[in-house]
Amino acid sequence: MSYNIAIDGPAGAGKSTIAKKVAAKKGYIYVDTGAMYRAMALYLVRQGVTREDTDRISEVCQGADISIKYENGEQVVLLNGENVNGLIRTPQVSDMASVSSQNGDVRVKLVKLQQELAAKEDVVMDGRDIASKVLPDADVKVYLTASSTCRAKRRYDEMVAKGEECDLDEIERDIIERDHRDMTRENSPLVQVPEATLIDSSNMTIEEVTEAILALCR
Ligand code: DC
Repeated sequence: MSYNIAIDGPAGAGKSTIAKKVAAKKGYIYVDTGAMYRAMALYLVRQGVTREDTDRISEVCQGADISIKYENGEQVVLLNGENVNGLIRTPQVSDMASVSSQNGDVRVKLVKLQQELAAKEDVVMDGRDIASKVLPDADVKVYLTASSTCRAKRRYDEMVAKGEECDLDEIERDIIERDHRDMTRENSPLVQVPEATLIDSSNMTIEEVTEAILALCR
């Protein structure tokens, strides 16, 4: 039986940073499910679907074959065989992903892929519905969050470090709006399941959060 660690939480809580560290420490595979929803969103954008065009998403998504492979320990997302890692972090794709991830047919396809992976391999998987839907029998379940102010400040610092221009208040407004969309959607909303351990990383270092999760595995 494979060992599965599920980490859910809102945008900007540090899930991917922490999940990667935990995976490296344990020698497990890190599965970034958000990247799969992003690859699907890229496909939809390329097919000319707009975010208002929700009726077409169910039909068009059937043409996307999404898979993942690992290169030097990094997850590579393949869209119909093409490595799309460098193309899925744009605002246009983020925006489409947040709409198209609400579609039931998109979710059925990607959840199946995620479950197949976790059945074969020891994984640390992060997303919004991992403990609630994808891996309800995960060995460890964590709900990782931080205040919206703190999450906005982290994004702001990241963007400033890259030399990008940005506005802290606007970032926080976007985060609050995305949280609302992720938590109130009909299909697999972001929830903290009762058995998940809540970790609020607002005043914790990356090392402290990683250690807290490793302690849950012992
Ligand atoms: O974590 P992220 O920002 O890369 O996720 C991209 C989008 O996909 C985001 O709008 C939430 C959605 N998502 C989801 O619905 N379910 C998941 N398991 C992971 C991400």
